[in-house]
Amino acid sequence: MTERKSIHGLWSGRLAFILAATGSAVGLGNIWKFPYITGENGGGAFVLFYLLCIAMIGIPIMMAEVMLGRRGRQNPIATMQTLSLEEGASSNWKWLGVMGVITGMMILSYYSVIAGWALSYFFEATTGVFNGITAKESADHFGSLVGSWDTLLGWHTMFMGLTLYVVSKGVRGGLEKAVTVLMPALFILLLVMVGYAMQTDSFQKGLSFLFTPDFSKLTKESALIAMGHAFFTLSLGMGAIMAYGAYLPKNVSIAGAGISIALADTAVALLAGMAIFPIVFANGLEPSSGPGLIFTTLPIAFGQMPYGNIFASIFFLLLIFAAWSSAISLIEPAIAWLVEKTGVTRLRATALMGGATWLLGIGSILSFNVWSDATFIDKTFFDWMDYLTSNIMLPLGGLLIAVFAGWLMRKKSSQEELGLSGVLYGIWSFLVKYVAIIGVLIVMLKVSGAMDWAINLVSNG
Ligand code: TRP
Repeated sequence: MTERKSIHGLWSGRLAFILAATGSAVGLGNIWKFPYITGENGGGAFVLFYLLCIAMIGIPIMMAEVMLGRRGRQNPIATMQTLSLEEGASSNWKWLGVMGVITGMMILSYYSVIAGWALSYFFEATTGVFNGITAKESADHFGSLVGSWDTLLGWHTMFMGLTLYVVSKGVRGGLEKAVTVLMPALFILLLVMVGYAMQTDSFQKGLSFLFTPDFSKLTKESALIAMGHAFFTLSLGMGAIMAYGAYLPKNVSIAGAGISIALADTAVALLAGMAIFPIVFANGLEPSSGPGLIFTTLPIAFGQMPYGNIFASIFFLLLIFAAWSSAISLIEPAIAWLVEKTGVTRLRATALMGGATWLLGIGSILSFNVWSDATFIDKTFFDWMDYLTSNIMLPLGGLLIAVFAGWLMRKKSSQEELGLSGVLYGIWSFLVKYVAIIGVLIVMLKVSGAMDWAINLVSNG
C-alpha cells in the first residue's frame, strides 16, 4: 500500500509521539478525577478493577486507535471513512468519528472549568494563602471559589484561551517541547508529595484504602465508573489518540508506544492516590467528598510543610500544564475535521469549535452554584456531562473501535500496520476481538439492567 500523508505534518519521531500522547493521557483524570472517584467508590476493589480494565481493554484499544489513525492519516471522521472503504465496510463508520468529535468537545467543556480551579489555586498559592490552613478553612476556601460563578467563568475563559492558543498553532509548535520538560517535573513533584504523605501517621491507612480490595464495595455502577475511567485516563474512545496516531511516522512500534503510555499514565494516577489518601485520613476528611477532594486536601498538606507556598505553586502549575496538554487533544479532532472538511484556516476553525465548547462549559460552571439544585435524576449538568461522556460515549466509542479493528479490518492490514506477527499479534487480536468487546458489553449491559432482563427472559422460557 502506498502510504497516505497527513496535511498537518508529522511528529519528529517516536519520543515526540510518546510524549504528546502521554501529555494527552496524563491530566486532570489522573490527579483530580482518579482520587475522587476512588474515594467515592470505596477504594481497593475499584482500583483493582480499574487496573484490570487498563491492561485488558485499555492497552489493546489504544493500539487499535493508534493503528487506525496512522493508517488513515486524517481526522478521525475522514480516517474512518477512508478505512471503511478500503476494508470493504459500510461508510457509516464515519459516524464513529462524528461521535468522537462531539464527545471531545463535551469533555473539554467541563474539563476547562476544573482546570480553571487549578489556575485559581496556582495564583493563590503564590500569595501564600495556604500557610497553616486548617481542614475547615480549606473546605470553606474551596466552597467560596466554586460558589462564585463569575470567578469560575473568568478562569474557564482563561484556560480555554490557553488551550485554543496552542491548538491554533498546530500540533508541533511549542507543545512538543513543553511536554518534554513538564511531564518529568510533574512526576518528581508527585514523588515529593508522596514523601510528605509517608511522614503522616496515616500513610498505611491510605495505602490500604487504595490497595486492599473489598469486593463487597464494587457495585455494578462502580465497575462502570472504573471502566469508563480507564478510557478517560488513557484518552481513548473519541479519536484523540487516533488523531495523534495520524501524525506518527511509519517506523515507530505501536505496541511499545501504547504500553509505555499506559504505564506512565497509571504510575501518575497511583502516585496521586498515594499522596492524597494519607492526607485525607490524617486530617479526618471524607474520601468520598467528591470533585473538590484534591482542592480541599492538598492545601492542608502544603500549609504544613516548610516552603509549602513554593511547593503548592509548583504543584498547581504542573497540574495546569498536565491539563493543558490533555485539553489540546480533546479538541484537536474537531479542528482537524473542520479544516480538512471546509478548508477554513486553523485559526478560524479553532475560534468556532473553541467558542462552542466555551459556551457549553458555562452549564458546568453553573452546576456548582446557581444551578446546583437543578438536578435531573440526582445529577447536575456537570455530573451529566461527565457521566454521559466517560461512562457511555467513550466505552461505546472504544467498543466500536475494537469491532472495526478486530473484526472488519483485514488481518493483513492490521498486521502490516502494527508491525506485529506470531504470538504477539495473536495476543493483541484476541484481546481486541473478544476480551475488550465482551468486557465492555458486560459492564454496560449489567448497569443498564439489560443483562438481567435477557437472562430472565431466557430462563423463564
Ligand atoms: N486523559 C486525559 C486525563 O486523564 C483527558 C483526556 C484528554 C481525554 N484527551 C482525551 C479523555 C480524550 C477522553 C478522551 O485528564
